[in-house]
This record gives sequence, structure tokens and C-alpha cells, in this order.
Amino acid sequence: MKMKIFVTRKIPKAGINLLKKKYNVKVSPHDRVLSKKKIMQNVKGVDAILCLLTDTIDEDIMDAAGDKLKVIANYAVGINNIDVGAAKKRKIMVTNTPGVLTDTVAEHAFGLMIALAQRIVEADKYIRAGKFKGWEPMLFLGDDLMEKTLGIIGLGRIGFAVAQRAVNGMGMKVIYNDINRNKNFEKRFQAKYAAKQQLLKKADFVSLHVPLLPATKHLIGVKELKMMKKDAYLINTSRGPVIDEKALITALEKKIIKGAALDVFECEPKLGCAADIAGRFRKLDNAIFTPHIASASIITRSKMSEMAAKNIIAALSGRKPPNIVN
Ligand code: DGY
Repeated sequence: MKMKIFVTRKIPKAGINLLKKKYNVKVSPHDRVLSKKKIMQNVKGVDAILCLLTDTIDEDIMDAAGDKLKVIANYAVGINNIDVGAAKKRKIMVTNTPGVLTDTVAEHAFGLMIALAQRIVEADKYIRAGKFKGWEPMLFLGDDLMEKTLGIIGLGRIGFAVAQRAVNGMGMKVIYNDINRNKNFEKRFQAKYAAKQQLLKKADFVSLHVPLLPATKHLIGVKELKMMKKDAYLINTSRGPVIDEKALITALEKKIIKGAALDVFECEPKLGCAADIAGRFRKLDNAIFTPHIASASIITRSKMSEMAAKNIIAALSGRKPPNIVN
């Protein structure tokens, strides 16, 4: 009998095709986030689950799957949606998709940075509203990136790739904060390590690249926003709850910082957890938003699909998956 796999939502076919060669694969027919109940019904008796960052995989789901469940393969690098501790207790492997999305996310972070500094979204809206009457010397004056200081919080693969582009591509200076110091990185990019406080005080752009952990929840709140320069910009392509959005909205309204660009949100897919935040966010010209698409290039999403599949194949063949996290 073929082993069984449940895939919680349609993903690019590269990985699904790999899995179908060996296993009995069921892909959810609904193109939406499944309820916990639906996931529990579908995972009964499976050997592997391929899930997304929008699925909360807790011990109820693991128990509903039963004893055969060997691996939960997340179609994401972030794994905050999975109770990794509960999986470990049950000897279930958890895997993710690191590396393949690094450059795509780094490029998106830069896209946001440039769009913010050069007011591209505001300018686009202006044109669409029929307001462009000709070249003007003072129209949409923005900021340059060249020679500015980029503060990177979290020097993992993505933080590193953003730094590389900043120094080599944009002529920026880089300072960074991480739990580990990386002297090679400092030498290669003339980057300086800074305590979080120092980084916030010095950076013209702050880009967040930390995983979501209890220690990184609301890493940027009222106090931190007040430390930032009045003309600084904040970019988040990591996880929404790393920023206290309530504090951010006030900082943007009161011009405590100059602008922010968010690809991720505290209560995704909502724009703000509290009822009044979404409306306030929408009114702001100094904020731009993308719907958690930093890794969404055709090639990258296909590679993520293949990687998740290969993790499952390794686990179900008795090998250690290449991207096991527990
Ligand atoms: C991830 O992989 O964690 C990204 O946020 C989704 O592409």
C-alpha cells in the first residue's frame, strides 16, 4: 500500500509531481485556508502533511493524524505556525524551505525600500487620479538610498542578502544586530555590529529579518520607534508580530518616523488586529503594504514546492530530511 500524504492547499506542481510518483497524494480541492476541523478530518492516517504558513499545526492535528505521521513539511522557511515541541515529543519530523527564497525576499525588501524612499506608490496613485499636469521641480521629493545607513536586525540568510545588495548595489553603509556577531561579514561588507538601541538611533532604514519567537514578538514597539530617527524608514518582510502595529500606526501618524513598508501583518490577513487600525493604516501616505508576497516569484515558489517534497521523500524513505528543524 502506498504511503499517504495530505497537502493543505494547491502549491506549484513541481513538488506535487515528485510526490505523486511514489505516494498517494491528496491535495485540498479548496483554494483557501482550511479550518482546523477540515485539516483534522483530512490528515487521518497520513504519513506526511505538507502545510503552509497559514495553517496552525498543533498537537490536536498531530493526534488526529495518528501514529503513522512521520513528517510535517512546511512550505515556508518560517515555522512559527507549527508546534515544533509537540512534534518532537511525538517523534514527528518538521521541515522547512530555507535558502531557495533568500534572494527573492531580499529583492522584495529592496523593492519596498526604494518604493518608500522614492514615494512610488503615492506617485502612482497621483497619476491614476489624473493629477499629473506636467513636470514640477518640487513634485514628490523623496530620499536617496546611496550613502545612507541600513540597519539590519537579524543576520540570517535573508538579512545577509539584503546587506550584500545594500553595499554592492546601492552604495549604502550597513550596521547590523543579531544574537551572533559575524566578523567575516563585517570585514566583507565593512559592516558594523551595533546593539539594537544603537542601530535604531543610527539607521536611516531599518529592515527586519528575524524569525518569530517569543523573544522577537514586538521587538519594535513604542520605545524602539521613539529611538529611531525622525526621517527613518522601517521595512518588515519577516513576520507581522515582530512589530507592535498599534505602536507603529501612532508613530506613522505622529511622524515619529518617516515611513514604513510591511509585507507581513500582526493578524494576517487583517490589516491590523484592533478594529480601528486597518482604517488608520489605509489613510497613511507614508506606509506601503504588500500581501505577504516577498517570496512570491514563480521560480522560488516552485523551488519551495520541490524542497518541501524532497523533505517528505527523505523522511518517508528513512533518511534524514535535508531541512529538518527538530
Ligand atoms: C516564509 O517562507 O517563511 C515566507 O514568509 C513565505 O514565503
